[in-house]
Amino acid sequence: MMDLGQRIRKQMEVNKIFTPTTPVDESSLFSGRQQQLGRVVEAIAQKGQHVVIYGERGVGKTSLSNVLGQLLSGQSSVVIAPRATADSGDTFSSLWRKVFAEVTITNNKQSIGFTSEKLFSQQTLSDQIQGDITPDTVRRVLAQVGAHSLLIPIIDEFDRLDVSVTTAIADTVKMLSDHAVPATIVLVGVADSVDQLIREHASVERALVQVPMPRMSGQEIRGIIVNGLARLGMTAKDDALDHVVLLSQGLPHYTHLLGLNGTLNAIEEDKVELTSNHIERAVIKSVESTQSSIRSAYSKATSSNRAENLYGHVLLACAMTGPDELGFFAPGAVREPMSILMGKQYDIPSFARHLYDFTEEEKGPILERIGTERKYRYRFKNPLIQPYVIMKGLADGKISRDALENFLKRR
Ligand SMILES: Nc1ncnc2c1ncn2[C@@H]1O[C@H](COP(=O)(O)OP(=O)(O)O)[C@@H](O)[C@H]1O
Ligand SMILES: [Mg+2]
Repeated sequence: MMDLGQRIRKQMEVNKIFTPTTPVDESSLFSGRQQQLGRVVEAIAQKGQHVVIYGERGVGKTSLSNVLGQLLSGQSSVVIAPRATADSGDTFSSLWRKVFAEVTITNNKQSIGFTSEKLFSQQTLSDQIQGDITPDTVRRVLAQVGAHSLLIPIIDEFDRLDVSVTTAIADTVKMLSDHAVPATIVLVGVADSVDQLIREHASVERALVQVPMPRMSGQEIRGIIVNGLARLGMTAKDDALDHVVLLSQGLPHYTHLLGLNGTLNAIEEDKVELTSNHIERAVIKSVESTQSSIRSAYSKATSSNRAENLYGHVLLACAMTGPDELGFFAPGAVREPMSILMGKQYDIPSFARHLYDFTEEEKGPILERIGTERKYRYRFKNPLIQPYVIMKGLADGKISRDALENFLKRR
């Protein structure tokens, strides 16, 4: 038996390992993504190449860019990977100031360290640059710093920037490439495609390696739990891992949420092996502790004046469809899950109205729609809502675990 002190320490540790709302910043807790990392590293190795990482919200873009520096260090040169998180109000100059503020200059001119090592007396690159930062300033500074290091400036949440700023950055990337400046810019943002992120991307196409981030595979999701538990000297039953994979829907946020609550359940029972019973109980807790914005989006979409209404069921059926790579599903795909939920055959006309309502302001809109009549396709506006809807359905008893598993495995 653990004593109280041991148990509390263990609980604290679990909270550092499973972090549903914080990107990973430690390479030993980072799971999978070998293919995407390979593409980024290849670009870093090549002169004149820069990187754009894009994908759905919550798939792990920031985490990947976070661990890049650590994964590359141990190579010959010093790695400097300063990151700036863009805000909608940022200008070209304010954004680059954020990047340069992350680079500290130590007394010894040759060694340039990370902010984490910053002492009060130390200056940053930003302190040394007066006035507005122009593309030319960026070129000069990067050329200087990059001469002594492996320099990888990262600009995250690129999608939040004004089009004038993204255009200026694209032009700068092109110029850096043309001048063979020894630095690799990594742009990161939420988007379905690069042209959503950079309007003028044709002109920078040759300088920019595109790295789409898909949802995580089952193997990568398992890795998150297995790596995390290994840190705690714990293991998981296969069945528990399968359950987490099923519920995460490729979105690591939920893997961390279920990992956190499931592991706390196990520790409470003094167990060193995570079982699917721990996960099952974690579902209820996780549904209750999901971000309030997601919970309120769900209740807005499913509430109705009429007690007898199908919104909750139709939304769950939508969440159960097998969407395409960009998250879209056709109304026809809702038929089967809806019929399973209701225990009798349901056809499109019986829920077409609900689908339409979900795209209206009054219900969020929780879904967005593309295409033309008869060829409409829908998807969850915020992808993180989809796994929540499934877990909520389980917690509320709208569907059993067995029925869900059977259906999702077939889809
Ligand atoms: N490769 C990974 N291994 C382990 N956890 C991950 C990984 N990628 C993302 N996560 C976790 O998933 C959640 C979302 O990741 P994040 O990097 O913030 O996504 P994005 O930037 O695409 O919105 C975070 O809780 C993060 O810790
Ligand atoms: Mg992010």
